[in-house]
Amino acid sequence: MSDSRTQFKSKFGIIMASVGSAVGLGNIWRFPYEAGQNGGAAFLIIYIVCVLVLGIPTLMAEMTMGRMTQTNSARAFRKMTQSPVFSKVGYLGVLACVLIMGFYTVVAGWTFEYMWEAVSGTMTDLSAEQFTANFNSFVVSPFRPLFWTILMVVLTHLIILGGVQKGIERAAKWMMPMLFLLLVVLCVYSVMLPGASAGLEFLFKPDFSKITSEVVLSAMGQAFFSLSLGAGVMITYASYFDNDVNIPRTATTVALLDTSVAFLAGILIFPAVFTFGIEPTQGPNLVFVTLPNIFAQLPMGSVLAFAFFLLLALASITSLISLHQVVTAYVAEEFKLSNRKAALVVSCTIAVLAVLCSLSLGVLNDIRVGGLCMFDLMDYVTAKIMMPLGSLLLCLFLGWKVEKSKILNEITNYGTLRWRLAKTFVVMLKYVVPILVALVFINELGLFE
Ligand code: PHE
Repeated sequence: MSDSRTQFKSKFGIIMASVGSAVGLGNIWRFPYEAGQNGGAAFLIIYIVCVLVLGIPTLMAEMTMGRMTQTNSARAFRKMTQSPVFSKVGYLGVLACVLIMGFYTVVAGWTFEYMWEAVSGTMTDLSAEQFTANFNSFVVSPFRPLFWTILMVVLTHLIILGGVQKGIERAAKWMMPMLFLLLVVLCVYSVMLPGASAGLEFLFKPDFSKITSEVVLSAMGQAFFSLSLGAGVMITYASYFDNDVNIPRTATTVALLDTSVAFLAGILIFPAVFTFGIEPTQGPNLVFVTLPNIFAQLPMGSVLAFAFFLLLALASITSLISLHQVVTAYVAEEFKLSNRKAALVVSCTIAVLAVLCSLSLGVLNDIRVGGLCMFDLMDYVTAKIMMPLGSLLLCLFLGWKVEKSKILNEITNYGTLRWRLAKTFVVMLKYVVPILVALVFINELGLFE
């Protein structure tokens, strides 16, 4: 395995690796079902506001922090402060990554099942109810999903062993553009379906009465989740950035691409949801029961289905790699293990967690905390609590505990970049992001009522 402090080779590679982390199941699986459950367009509007006002500044903050410290995300905070609270923010991120991988690997594994079904020809000639019934019986079964989950862990592990440049960069460079292209092609088809106008109306015509504290929390959580924020991922990736990387521009590009993919996923899914009479509110299975209906109707549907799920699997892997890299870098550097050993420890831990998460949809479904099974609990705790909290603490830290000149220097590459918003950025870190995230939390706790 290559040295964990080697740097990304090209600017394009940097952007693609960061986009690779951001774009994944969060955009194509999680975004449509969260939008479906939270009122469609009402959710979308708040989501966009969250990306612009919270997401982009936090993304820049993580990149600034990463390049400034050049180390794993846990040590990054310790290196800069001895404050009992802030020095531990990095650990929160590492823990979030472990928990995210727990359920993320399971869903990523589902894409393999669908590739398999596409190849074996079982994805044709079924009604929408049958597709749904098939999926529901698949996820609760104790064997097949586990097999795919473990395969996913093994693949991620192997890519991690390839190192930063060879593994991640090379993989991300061609997978992401391909996925984007295929999504566009499928969207064109989807908007020609008979239910397209109802679907697009659901996604783009807001009904403001649907906005509740839960919708706002969900949209905020989705923004952080989708941009891979609050878990130290972008800190870790930026620790490999060169000194001349333009952080504001990179962050904005990543956010833009990530949001476009989520939009495309919405435009792909909702017309089909309304055409085939699927409930938009049905939750985590939404994409998996909707897409097969589209593919079943297309000429060469199974080829397209295979290509789509393959690219989705790859997009999940580039996200998984980024999560894995955070934890591996931490374990290797903190416990003085070789990268190889550290990666193995991490992969084994994830395998155990992921198996439990997968089983929690079936045989272990009765074990619940706060009414949620383990799978849902991990999703909820990470996206809706840990990631916004991690982001809030990071912004507070940079805004209040680090000298302003240091931040301005880092974000402008020591004055070589002219960026008019540099001072605004500091204000966002100090006040806007922390206050807004705190308000959403307080609102969710019902303290305003
Ligand atoms: N952003 C990734 C996605 O949308 C998920 C992720 C979350 C990756 C947090 C890294 C850290 O799929």
